[in-house]
Amino acid sequence: MNEQISRLFEFRRLEDRTKSGSYSKVVSVCSGKGGTGKTFFSLNFAYQLSRNNKKVLIVDLDLNFSNLHLLLNHTTEKPLSNFFLHKYTLHEIIFKYTDNLHFIFGESGLSGQPKIGKDLVDYFFMQLDKIAPRYDIIILDSAAGSDEATLQQLSRSDYNIVVASPEPTAVMDAYVLFKMIVENSDHYKNFLVVNKTENKDDGESAYQNLSTAVRHFLKSEITLLGTIASDRNVYKSILEQDILMKTYPNSLAALEISELTRRFLKITQMANNNQSLIFTLF
Ligand SMILES: Nc1ncnc2c1ncn2[C@@H]1O[C@H](COP(=O)(O)OP(=O)(O)OP(=O)(O)O)[C@@H](O)[C@H]1O
Ligand SMILES: [Mg+2]
Repeated sequence: MNEQISRLFEFRRLEDRTKSGSYSKVVSVCSGKGGTGKTFFSLNFAYQLSRNNKKVLIVDLDLNFSNLHLLLNHTTEKPLSNFFLHKYTLHEIIFKYTDNLHFIFGESGLSGQPKIGKDLVDYFFMQLDKIAPRYDIIILDSAAGSDEATLQQLSRSDYNIVVASPEPTAVMDAYVLFKMIVENSDHYKNFLVVNKTENKDDGESAYQNLSTAVRHFLKSEITLLGTIASDRNVYKSILEQDILMKTYPNSLAALEISELTRRFLKITQMANNNQSLIFTLF
C-alpha cells in the first residue's frame, strides 16, 4: 500500500477509536523462537496489570499448542476453537478469574481445529472490537514464529511485545520476527522483553545488539520493556500451576515483571495522552 494512504488509514483508525473513547489496547506477546516464555510472561503480566486496577482480557491465540489453561490448572469447556467454528461468540467463552482478569482459553491437540488464515484473524479482530470497550488492555498470547496468521495478528495489534532469551540465536530469531513485523505493519510500536537472563548485563547487551541491527537495517526502533531473570521460582510456579506474582511475589523474576509492568503503563499512558491531544487539535 502507498505509504501516505496507509498512514491515512492508520490515522482514521486512531481517530475513530479516540472519538469512541477507546484507546490503543491490544497487545500481542510473540517470539521468533519457541519456548522463550511468552505464555508465562503473558499470564504474569496480565495478572500484574489487573493488580494495577486495569481490566484485562488475556486470549490464548496459540491455537495448536494452547497451554495457558495448563498454567492455571483450568479445564475449559469452551475453547477458542468454538468461536472460530461459530458455535459461540467471544463474549460467551470468557472465563472470569477475578473482576479485573478475564481469560479466553484454547485447547491443545483438538482434532477438527479450524485452519486459521488471514481472514479468520480479521474476523477475530472484528469480534474483539465488540468486547474491547469493556477492557483497558487485551493481551494476545501468540504462537511462536511468523506464519501468515500470526503476522496478520501482529500487524493488527496496537503493541507487540517480543519475548527473546539472551543467547545470540534467540536474538537473531527475534530480529527476523521484527523484520517481518516492520515489513507487514504500517505502525511500529514494538517492545522487547529479554527473558531468562543470567544477569542484567546479558539482557542489556542482547537489547543493544538487536536495537542496533533494527535501527541500521530496518530503520525502525524497539523499546526495551525490561529483562526477567532466569529464576527457579518460575519453574516452581509452573509446576504448581499457579501465578508467580501471586505465589512468589518477592522472587527476582516477579519483582522484574512488576517493574516492567509499571514501565509499560507509563509508556502507553503517554502514548494515549498524545493520541487524544492530536485529535483534539484537529
Ligand atoms: N524467567 C524464567 N526463569 C526460568 N524458567 C523460565 C522463565 N521463563 C520461562 N521459563 C521456562 O520456560 C518454559 C517455557 O515457557 P513458556 O511456555 O511460557 O514459553 P512459550 O514461549 O510460551 O513457549 P511456546 O513457544 O511453546 O508457546 C517454562 O516451562 C518455564 O519452565
Ligand atoms: Mg506459549
